[in-house]
Amino acid sequence: MSTPTYSAADCKEVLFSEQQIDEIITRLAREIEDTYKGSKNRLVMVITLKGALPFASALMKKINIPIQYECVKVSSYGSGTKSSGEVKLHLDLQISDPENTDLLIIEDIIDSGNTLSFLTAYLKSRRPASVRVCTLLDKPSRREVDFTPDFNGAQIPDKFVVGFGLDFDENYRALPFIGVLKEEIYS
Ligand code: PRP
Repeated sequence: MSTPTYSAADCKEVLFSEQQIDEIITRLAREIEDTYKGSKNRLVMVITLKGALPFASALMKKINIPIQYECVKVSSYGSGTKSSGEVKLHLDLQISDPENTDLLIIEDIIDSGNTLSFLTAYLKSRRPASVRVCTLLDKPSRREVDFTPDFNGAQIPDKFVVGFGLDFDENYRALPFIGVLKEEIYS
């Protein structure tokens, strides 16, 4: 077996280059501005650790309206690649003045939909003015529960993608592009 390198060479295909990611994020930023620019509420990004961190960081710099951010940590449990649908919250957030707060959840990828179904329901129970979701990537073919994001960077096929926050075993998150991992790395 070859020694893992955790580098770009472990990808068999680039799905989105750095420039393509930048273009997607620019478009999403305009869509978000158009949605919230008339709102009198405070806009708070809710960043889901850890995968959404690079995306959220790039996105917030392109949004030309005042924005605050908080971080949450959620994880779903299951065996192997199969999610059990059970989602737990490891890091909560304080929402001061919820009735005057628009929450925008930032996610790197939607797969089964379990994480965001749980998180949106939980945040809505805190009675903010609104809760919306922005995801960089969406894999609709993997859905176990019905879920549609308000802002979607790109739909992708059911491929094992890494980079720009997405990991395999905590590696590859720092790659500047999104690539498809070679099967021999994870099988
Ligand atoms: C990933 C991703 C989403 C979730 C999507 O997080 O960031 O939060 O899985 O999957 P779902 O739609 O099937 O619920 P992960 O639990 O791998 O944690 P990470 O962000 O720290 O990588």
